[in-house]
Amino acid sequence: MSMNIYNGHSSSSSSTCVHSQNVYNDNNNISNNNNNNNYADGKPEKKIIKLQNLQTGQESTDRLHALSQSNRCTEHVCLGSIVSFPNTKAVSITCRPVEEVRSLAKDFFDQYYTSIKRYNSTSHVQRWEQVQAEITDTGTYNVTETELVYGAKLAWRNSVRCIGRIQWAKLQVFDARSVTTTTGMFEAVCKHIKYATNKGNIRSAITIFPQRTDGKHDFRIWNPQLIGYAGYRQSDGTVVGDPISIEFTEVCTKLGWKGKGTKWDILPLVLSSDGHDPEYFEIPSELILEIPIVHPNFEWFAEMDIRWYALPAVSSMLFDCGGLEFTACPFNGWYMGTEIGCRDLGDVHRYNMLEEVAIRMGLDIKNPTTLWKDRAIVELNLAVLYSYQRAGVTVVDHHTASESFMKHYENEMRMRGGCPADWVWIVPPMSGSATPVFHQEMALYHLKPSYEYQEPAWKCHVWKKGASQRDSSTGLSLRQNRKGARRKFHFKEIARAVKFTSKLFGKALSKRVKATILYATETGKSEMYARRLEEIFGHAFNAQVNRMDEYDIINIEHETLILVVTSTFGNGDPPENGESFAHSLYAIKMNQGLSMGAEDLSMASSKSFIKMNSQTDSVAAERRFDRNDSLKGSQISDIMSDDNLGPLRNITFAVFALGSSAYPNFCAFGRYVDNLLGELGGERLMKLTSGDELAGQDQAFRVWAAEIFQTACDSFCLDFDKNMADISAALKADTLSPESVRFLPVQAADDEVQALSKLHNRKVNMYSLVEKTNLHEKDTSRVTIKVVLRKRLSSETPLSYQSGDHVGIVAENRVELVDKVLERLGNKPSTDDEAVQVQLLQEKHTPMGVQKQWIPHERLPRSSLRVLLTRYLDITTPPRPNLILYLMRCTEDTTEQERLSSLAKDSDVYEHWKQCNWPNLVTILEQFPNVKPDATVLCTMLPMLQPRFYSVSSSPHAFNDELHLTVAVVTYKTRGGEGPTHYGVCSNYLNDIQVGTLVPCFVRSATSFHLPTDMSRPMIMIGPGTGIAPFRGFWQERKIMGNRKPGSRFGKMTLFFGCRTKEMILYRSELESLKKENILSDIFLALSREPSVKKTYVQDLLRREGDAVARQIMQEGGHVYVCGDCTMAEDVYQTLKSIVQERGMLNDAEVESYMLSLRDDNRYHEDIFGITHRTAEVHEKVRQTAMTRIESNYSLNNANVGK
Ligand SMILES: Cc1cc2nc3c(=O)[nH]c(=O)nc-3n(C[C@H](O)[C@H](O)[C@H](O)COP(=O)(O)OP(=O)(O)OC[C@H]3O[C@@H](n4cnc5c(N)ncnc54)[C@H](O)[C@@H]3O)c2cc1C
Ligand SMILES: NC(=O)c1ccc[n+]([C@@H]2O[C@H](COP(=O)([O-])OP(=O)(O)OC[C@H]3O[C@@H](n4cnc5c(N)ncnc54)[C@H](OP(=O)(O)O)[C@@H]3O)[C@@H](O)[C@H]2O)c1
Ligand SMILES: Cc1cc2nc3c(=O)[nH]c(=O)nc-3n(C[C@H](O)[C@H](O)[C@H](O)COP(=O)(O)O)c2cc1C
Repeated sequence: MSMNIYNGHSSSSSSTCVHSQNVYNDNNNISNNNNNNNYADGKPEKKIIKLQNLQTGQESTDRLHALSQSNRCTEHVCLGSIVSFPNTKAVSITCRPVEEVRSLAKDFFDQYYTSIKRYNSTSHVQRWEQVQAEITDTGTYNVTETELVYGAKLAWRNSVRCIGRIQWAKLQVFDARSVTTTTGMFEAVCKHIKYATNKGNIRSAITIFPQRTDGKHDFRIWNPQLIGYAGYRQSDGTVVGDPISIEFTEVCTKLGWKGKGTKWDILPLVLSSDGHDPEYFEIPSELILEIPIVHPNFEWFAEMDIRWYALPAVSSMLFDCGGLEFTACPFNGWYMGTEIGCRDLGDVHRYNMLEEVAIRMGLDIKNPTTLWKDRAIVELNLAVLYSYQRAGVTVVDHHTASESFMKHYENEMRMRGGCPADWVWIVPPMSGSATPVFHQEMALYHLKPSYEYQEPAWKCHVWKKGASQRDSSTGLSLRQNRKGARRKFHFKEIARAVKFTSKLFGKALSKRVKATILYATETGKSEMYARRLEEIFGHAFNAQVNRMDEYDIINIEHETLILVVTSTFGNGDPPENGESFAHSLYAIKMNQGLSMGAEDLSMASSKSFIKMNSQTDSVAAERRFDRNDSLKGSQISDIMSDDNLGPLRNITFAVFALGSSAYPNFCAFGRYVDNLLGELGGERLMKLTSGDELAGQDQAFRVWAAEIFQTACDSFCLDFDKNMADISAALKADTLSPESVRFLPVQAADDEVQALSKLHNRKVNMYSLVEKTNLHEKDTSRVTIKVVLRKRLSSETPLSYQSGDHVGIVAENRVELVDKVLERLGNKPSTDDEAVQVQLLQEKHTPMGVQKQWIPHERLPRSSLRVLLTRYLDITTPPRPNLILYLMRCTEDTTEQERLSSLAKDSDVYEHWKQCNWPNLVTILEQFPNVKPDATVLCTMLPMLQPRFYSVSSSPHAFNDELHLTVAVVTYKTRGGEGPTHYGVCSNYLNDIQVGTLVPCFVRSATSFHLPTDMSRPMIMIGPGTGIAPFRGFWQERKIMGNRKPGSRFGKMTLFFGCRTKEMILYRSELESLKKENILSDIFLALSREPSVKKTYVQDLLRREGDAVARQIMQEGGHVYVCGDCTMAEDVYQTLKSIVQERGMLNDAEVESYMLSLRDDNRYHEDIFGITHRTAEVHEKVRQTAMTRIESNYSLNNANVGK
């Protein structure tokens, strides 16, 4: 179980060797299943080995052996029971010949790219070319961290002697290849021990130190295991301690170590780096978990003073990966009881306890037929299992381990076409035939990557000092024996040294654990939080941020820690850049592996899945394997079961979900990601946390970020305190100051189209405004306009779009707002119109000390301050608490400081202020007249001005060069109608600009809101207010198609439209003629505020027309399109559901499933604008809630004061 080659060795006699007679010719090639390491063009011999299970009679066939390159047995001799085949026998180590490196590297990369389904892909070819070039240049090469992780896991999977391989993919890999000194090695090993021990809840881990270069600069851990007991030979020939350690104990002693001379002295770590002579280090006692061995029934057991340690970590083997040799790579699993009970404590040449146990049991030890040894061994093993379980330390009994191995064996046969195994070692050292593995024939062969034996370090180390006076047996310099000849390091000293080196060499040493931060965003907040998280995690982890759609999902299996920050959009849907990730997770879930690409799946079927898994916690979610649970104690049956071994078993994760409680499906996408990562085997570091846009989102993020950072540090045993100061600084404020940001004057501003394209990651075009018409007939209090944009030049290629798509508009902030901001800023460029570049002062930690350099701001283009504030920066969204904190630092007025501090720090006060004033930057500057912000810092703190989306209101078949929009112009008064008028940025920009103005725009495809491919299907279009927008494109298209193909059969097209009064009917005359031309079969109009007409919504009309609606949906395969406000969409959905349930006589479950199937069939289409209808209402509700909270806090405080 422990991958422990020392203790698990079975002494059974028969083994099945790959060279046995069960080898047949086979016409099938090796299959290329998920996760197997057979590669696509592997040219195995077409041989199969038939392997029988003598208990069940089942036969399996092994084809995988054809990929084995080493052949240790001869044709006539099976060497299956030879314990060790050292990789390097000679004392002086020779390096691998370059051609061998190349060939093994080729094999490794073929396996790797096959496993990620990219065999022979461009990336495979390119990577292989790169590796070859590196080998040609240097004789060797480097693997990436992901390749290293893959190799380490695969080497475990290939470990023929390990019975615990069902866990092979759940291995924490610590990449310690940047370590250069023994001190660094010691620090990494201590971290490994702490992480893996995990207070008894053992976790499998490996730490990998630098690879062999020329054989003269090896890194080695001289200990056979990281933790082990010393063995002292006495003058009378007896041994105190563990006899297996006698030689190594002598090595330690000669290095200057002095053991106490007891049975249970923990040996020091002996480490050598870069070919240097070794140094020894005491392992801090608080890192070592030991278990006193007691018996459940025999009290005298305690008197025997037996103990053992919790962590079995093999440290002398060599990791052979892709031709590279990693000579120091300590790894651990957890103990199988027999390793301790039978071997460590029972073996005659070890602690040899059987006789004493038998005597204490009162057994007759003279007569072997009393089976005293067998009876004693059972009690000894029972005591071990009992003691470990009692102490909450992970241990597995040999029966459970054998069963799990059989499960693994079957999985491997199925998935990989073979499972190399050394029967001699797999069968436990006691009760062999009572375990299922005994009856299973196994094929023994060796695959790479692998873990290999190597000569003990003291036998092959080339000494640098005192080479002339070396002890012949240990090779150690005799001089080293003298007092003080070698230094003994203590943990505190090392800790100090590490701190010192960290300061000098940056934080690279401590950043060995990768933290991958994934975000999906629609309006930029999730990205902003993800970047702050990167900053925070960067203090202790190797933190990397990826946008979900740019993340290669293939890597997810090999991640360690994933932090997700995502919002929800539409009506419980992923943001656009989160969609592919949602589908990929779905694909993994469906396939429980990565073999199926997202493109193989029907998009439709994943839709209902996403909805289902995000709206409520699924049943499966209740069975999630939670980090908190796993930390509670070791339930070995859980750990060994298949259920926890989903494809993402190796990752730990946490999700921060952004959303708004104004929406019915609050934070649904974040919930979906959280559910799926859990169901796929990931361990949750913390429960899902949501950040409600309407209630302290920023505050929620700050609390979560601090907590998740601490939890992650704890979980990965990283020193949290050391980083605290940095982190709290990172959390408190975006740490920029006038000293670290500047404007650098430049020759010219960047081209706006290019700058906007880069900023929004879209191909932005300039279209000219050619028409703007108010669609309301009378001068009502509200304005809704038709906007027509046309490409500038006839030679230009028009933007390609389909009816139903969205147009993104990049607007400008209002001139008067920009002017008011400019007026108040300090530290501006010489003029507001001078072109400048915003630059940040970056600090780099180098071996030469901290170096500073100015670098351009990543996102802001070269531009004038005025244009930055007009076109690129968001000055109207209410300022975030962080910005308020900054403003607080920009005033000398103490009253203002206090008020600003309270606003920034008390989320109730903040929410109340925000909802009441809906303040923009100018509002707050006016409310705090002494605040004088620095222009440079402000530019880096303001969010980016986001494009606004509009459903395209034209068909490309009717208006190829044009984009039509239907825009509700947003104006409102704050403070419940008493405050100043606010103007929506984009709708007012479109309403205000002159014909001929160039408008930056782009098209965003809305694939799920296109016309049905089968035009004979009925279409029910529901869109009150501006929700009518996309339908105009639909009817235009239908009209043109009808004209082009007279006689074509089109399904019915029905429109449900709603508005306040008759004057507000949009496109009234167009609708009338469409009805006359029978392009629209029916138009149902719901008037909500028409005097003398009962308030009617579209849902009321749907209900009234229920029979026809149900018939079109249920019998005629019709499509439903809903567009506009989110609440309306949800109400409509519920209405349609009840219509379908009633007419179809379905029960609750049936109707639920029917409605989901409509989405799967791509017949239910939604296009959601937001909470437009309820904005004021929602704001008021949130304000009231915040008010109530503030008041109750106030009265509570007063009450307390009164006491
Ligand atoms: C996919 C999609 C398609 C869309 N299609 C269309 C379309 O075809 N036609 C259309 O008109 N719109 C459409 N929208 C909405 C559009 O994108 C903009 O949100 C809308 O035009 C407002 O933008 P703005 O810049 O003018 O206002 P902003 O500057 O963004 O201001 C709007 C914000 O002001 C606040 N606010 C609004 N009213 C009040 C109030 N009464 N009290 C307090 N605060 C308030 C709210 O926070 C609101 O979010 C669509 C949205 C999406 C997501
Ligand atoms: N200030 C302006 O000049 C101006 C102009 C147009 C739009 N707008 C803004 O833009 C937003 C959207 O405008 P719009 O033209 O698309 O829509 P709208 O005119 O606000 O509403 C369209 C119709 O939908 C109704 N409705 C409201 N809630 C509904 C629900 N849950 N289910 C079904 N129907 C519902 C409305 O009824 P009710 O009578 O109940 O509202 C109205 O009859 C509005 O919220 C408004 O803030 C502003
Ligand atoms: C058109 C639209 C639809 C939205 N739909 C939802 C939703 O279904 N559920 C939810 O919790 N939040 C919803 N939200 C709120 C956003 O998730 C919230 O504003 C979030 O803070 C945006 O984060 P982002 O900037 O990272 O995209 C929606 C917002 C908009 C504008």
